[in-house]
Parts: sequence; C-alpha cells; structure tokens
Amino acid sequence: MNHTSKKINGIFTAPKMSVAMAAMLLGAICLLPESGNAQVVGQCVNCHTMHNSQGGASMSGTATVFQSLTKGDCIGCHTGGATDLTDNNIPKVNHTGAPASTLAGGSFYWVATTGGNLPATGHNVAGIAASDGVLGNVPPGGTALASQLTCAGTTGCHGDRTKANEYTALSGSHHAPNQNAGGVAGAVDGSSLANSYRFLNGTKGIEKADWEKVVSAAAHNQYYGVARTTDAAAAQTISALCGQCHGDFHATSTAHNPVTSPTTGISFANNMTSPWVRHPTDFDMFTVKAKEYGAYGGGVIGTGGGAYVPQAPVASNDILGVKSTVMSVAGDAIVTCISCHRAHGSDQADLLRWDYSTMTAHGSAGGNVGCFACHTTKDT
Ligand code: HEC
Ligand code: HEC
Ligand code: HEC
Ligand code: HEC
Ligand code: HEC
Repeated sequence: MNHTSKKINGIFTAPKMSVAMAAMLLGAICLLPESGNAQVVGQCVNCHTMHNSQGGASMSGTATVFQSLTKGDCIGCHTGGATDLTDNNIPKVNHTGAPASTLAGGSFYWVATTGGNLPATGHNVAGIAASDGVLGNVPPGGTALASQLTCAGTTGCHGDRTKANEYTALSGSHHAPNQNAGGVAGAVDGSSLANSYRFLNGTKGIEKADWEKVVSAAAHNQYYGVARTTDAAAAQTISALCGQCHGDFHATSTAHNPVTSPTTGISFANNMTSPWVRHPTDFDMFTVKAKEYGAYGGGVIGTGGGAYVPQAPVASNDILGVKSTVMSVAGDAIVTCISCHRAHGSDQADLLRWDYSTMTAHGSAGGNVGCFACHTTKDT
C-alpha cells in the first residue's frame, strides 16, 4: 500500500493534515486500483525553484542551478538515507548508508563507497563514483562511451538516448501520465518515453507502483522478454536495453573477446542450445521444463508451473498481466540479464543479486536460492 503515500505526501515536506482526514483519504485511495508509476504529484515548490533565490538565499541549499528549474539534479532527488527506499514517493536508488534492502534496480551505495572496480558492485555513474578503474568507459561486449556513464541521455540508460543532455533526454517524462497499455495497471508498451518501462525509452513492461519496495511472487515488476533466435535481443525487451551498450553479450564465439572484439564471433544461431558456450539470456525455460529448470519456484520437473521467484526473476513475452505462476505456457519464463544482475548495483561482485561465492555444487543445504533457483538439482 506504499503507493498511496504519493497522493498524501508532499515531496520534501509532508503537508499537515488531521488523522481523520488522512484516514478518509487513505480509505478513498485504497479503492483505486494500483496504477503503476506515472506523474509526480505535489506543490511545484517542493521540486522547483524559479530563481533559486528567496530573501537573497538559495532555495535548494546549493548555489548550483539545475535545468528544468528543479531543486536538485537526478542524483540529488533520487538519493536517500539507508532506510529510505521511497521517501515521499521519490524512488531512491542511491543511499548515504548501506541499505538493508533495495528497490528492484538495486543501489549505487556500494559503488559509491568502494569505487566499484573489483569487486564491481555497480555502474560507475558520473556524480556517484569516479570512472571504473579497470574498465574505464568501455561496457564489456560493447564499444566505449564518449565519456563517463550518466543517469540519462546518450551516455546513460534512462530517457531518449539520442539526446546528449540528461534533462533534454528526460524532459516531460515526470509529468506525463502513462497510458496503462491494454488497460493493465502499470503496463507500458514503450510507445513513447513516458510509456516506457522506468523511462527506459522504448522498453515494455509492467511497473509495480512501489518499485518493488514490497515484493512477492504475486506482486512484482513484470519484465518483458522474447526468446531469442538471432544474435540481437528482440527490441523493447529488458535485455535489449542492456544490449544497447553491452552488445550481444551472450555472444557464443569461443574466441570472443568482449572488450577488444565485441562483434567478432560465431553466430548465436549456430549454437543456441545446450551445451552452451555463454550463459543463455532471452531463453525460454518453458522449453526445458523437462530438465531441472521445471522445478523453478517449486514447480514440477516435466510440468513446470512453479511460482515466480523475485530473487531470480524471469521475463514474459506478454504484458497482459503480472505472472505469479510461470512455466505454464511458452514465453512466460524467459531468462534475462537481470535474472542475475541488479541494474544500478548491489552489495555483490558484478552487480549480482546474490553471493556467488556461496553457490557450492552438491554441498549446499538446498533451498534453491541464487543460481539454484533455476539449477534446482545442483545444490544438494
Ligand atoms: C515531485 C516533484 C515535482 C513536482 C511537485 C513538480 N514538478 Fe515539474 N518537474 C519535475 C522534474 C523532476 C522535472 C524535470 C524532468 C522532466 O521534465 O521530466 C520537471 C519538469 C517540469 C517542466 C518541464 C517539462 C514539462 O513537463 O513540461 C515544467 C513546465 C514543470 N515541471 C512544471 C511544474 C509545475 C507548474 C508544477 C506545480 C504545479 C510542478 N512542475 C511540480 C518534478 C516536479
Ligand atoms: C525534483 C526531484 C526530481 C528530480 C530532479 C528528478 N526526479 Fe526522477 N523522479 C522523481 C519523482 C517524485 C519520481 C516518482 C514519480 C512517480 O510517481 O512515478 C521520479 C521517478 C523517476 C523514475 C522512475 C519512473 C517510473 O516509471 O517509475 C526515473 C527512472 C527517474 N525518476 C529518473 C530521473 C532522472 C534520470 C533524472 C535527471 C534527469 C531525474 N529523475 C530527476 C523526482 C525527481
Ligand atoms: C548506457 C550504457 C549502458 C547500459 C544501457 C548498460 N550498461 Fe552495464 N556498463 C556500462 C559501462 C560503461 C560499464 C563499464 C564501466 C562501469 O563499470 O560502470 C558497464 C559495466 C557493467 C558491468 C560490470 C561492472 C564492472 O565494473 O565490472 C555489469 C555487470 C553490467 N554493466 C551490467 C549491465 C546490465 C545487466 C545492464 C542492463 C540492465 C547494463 N549493464 C546496461 C554501460 C552500460
Ligand atoms: C533464471 C534462471 C537461471 C539462473 C538464475 C541461472 N541459470 Fe544457468 N541456465 C539457465 C537455463 C535455462 C540454461 C539453459 C538450459 C538448457 O539449454 O538446457 C542455463 C545454462 C547454464 C549452464 C550451461 C548448461 C548447459 O546445458 O550447457 C551453466 C553452466 C549455468 N547455467 C550456470 C549457472 C550459474 C553458475 C548460475 C548462477 C550465477 C546460473 N546458471 C543462474 C537458467 C538459469
Ligand atoms: C546466469 C546469470 C547471469 C545472466 C543471465 C547474465 N549475467 Fe552477466 N554476469 C554473471 C556472472 C556470474 C558474472 C561474473 C563473470 C563471469 O562469471 O563470467 C557476470 C559478469 C557480467 C559483466 C562483467 C564482465 C566483465 O568483463 O567484467 C557484464 C558486463 C555482464 N555480466 C553483463 C550481462 C548482460 C548484458 C547480460 C544479459 C545479456 C548478463 N550479464 C546476463 C551472471 C549473469
């Protein structure tokens, strides 16, 4: 029910209201279906300053002025304390103290504090961490960016990547309503920037309104994926977003050097089956449910039908609804880049979702966590 707070809270200061009034409002809002993320709400002054000057003093606490007249930049607004995940409905993706849990994209806290070289705990975004000491501005699998990674724009992930300037790339998105594609709450079809999953231009998906602050098999973001048949990940999928910089990172050449020859290699189409030469992504586990994968989420080998596992999420090739049971039909259990990685960063090496060093073959207590969520017979 966290999403209700956006309607009753200001952004930087919560307006005062009586308990009765708050309860009434809350009651009314609870009747509304969860809508996914759309427009910012609240008084202009919470977020904007016209001159950054009142009584001769700065209104944003800094002499720096920002485009779109906001009181902070992308990082400023989206940074919070260790326990702040959605403070006043701003999704927090960077933290000033180690967060015990994060929203779906993870946090930049670890890369900001460790520098993120090795172990690499996050994307080295300008303003958060210095450029990566090992990789520089070269995304493994792709070609060097012209300058350090940014939140948005040509060298960033969010917004219109044809626009260099971050604010130009995002302009209009925070105030635009999304259209709830197909009438499904939170579904966006990528038809415009505002209708794109988390302002990742062109990407489809279903947005959970609290960005997975609270997450379960039944209530989660629904990522969009398509079982891959050629080298490139299909357009509009979450893996295709990663691929915009990382290229066909799954590439199957045995001689493939991800940094010096990212595009050299045998075609995916020549080897799109087990035994693999790179871990598959954009691969539908439904097709291998007769193997150990059938037991994902407590499903049955041969039949599938297990629960969605938030720790090792799978994508779906439709956005007609959030799937709580998967591997029931073709296309509902697709491995993606973010089945294993958190996009912003995590407390683990390589931005992984779990501690790889505890994945011990045939020596673990079981429980099917991490790699074992899918490789269900490799633990005990
Ligand atoms: C919760 C924060 C927030 C509040 C409240 C808010 N804005 Fe904004 N607004 C933003 C952000 C962030 C941007 C810059 C990014 C973008 O354009 O999406 C922006 C951009 C804009 C823009 C330029 C882009 C566009 O959509 O046309 C205008 C104009 C604007 N705001 C006007 C207003 C007015 C007027 C109010 C009060 C009625 C207001 N805003 C309240 C956050 C807010
Ligand atoms: C003035 C504060 C403010 C600034 C500046 C700001 N944002 Fe936001 N941002 C918000 C708020 C509030 C929301 C939540 C809106 C909602 O309810 O979906 C948000 C949401 C988002 C989302 C999630 C959208 C979704 O679908 O859930 C992304 C991505 C984002 N912002 C990126 C950026 C980037 C990149 C910049 C810099 C160009 C930026 N923001 C600048 C306040 C801000
Ligand atoms: C705008 C370009 C861009 C996009 C999009 C992008 N990355 Fe990256 N990525 C980079 C760059 C540049 C580096 C190397 C510098 C660094 O570590 O930040 C990198 C590094 C990485 C690393 C290694 C980190 C390290 O320091 O060794 C991982 C893992 C990663 N990216 C995963 C992803 C995933 C998963 C996605 C999709 C959710 C993604 N990236 C999307 C540009 C991008
Ligand atoms: C979301 C599910 C998922 C997760 C999580 C996952 N895998 Fe996989 N993995 C698969 C699927 C599906 C295949 C391909 C199976 C096939 O083609 O039969 C595969 C293939 C493999 C292969 C090659 C097997 C072959 O048949 O050639 C190895 C090795 C492997 N994974 C290791 C790992 C490790 C290590 C981790 C943890 C870092 C991991 N996987 C996490 C789903 C997953
Ligand atoms: C099955 C889990 C899994 C999946 C799926 C996965 N990765 Fe990884 N990724 C890892 C692991 C584990 C590492 C650590 C290096 C290794 O084992 O090869 C890693 C490392 C990386 C690195 C760092 C490479 C370097 O040279 O430092 C990048 C970049 C990366 N992954 C991007 C991606 C992208 C892009 C996708 C989707 C196309 C993806 N990953 C899918 C598990 C995964």
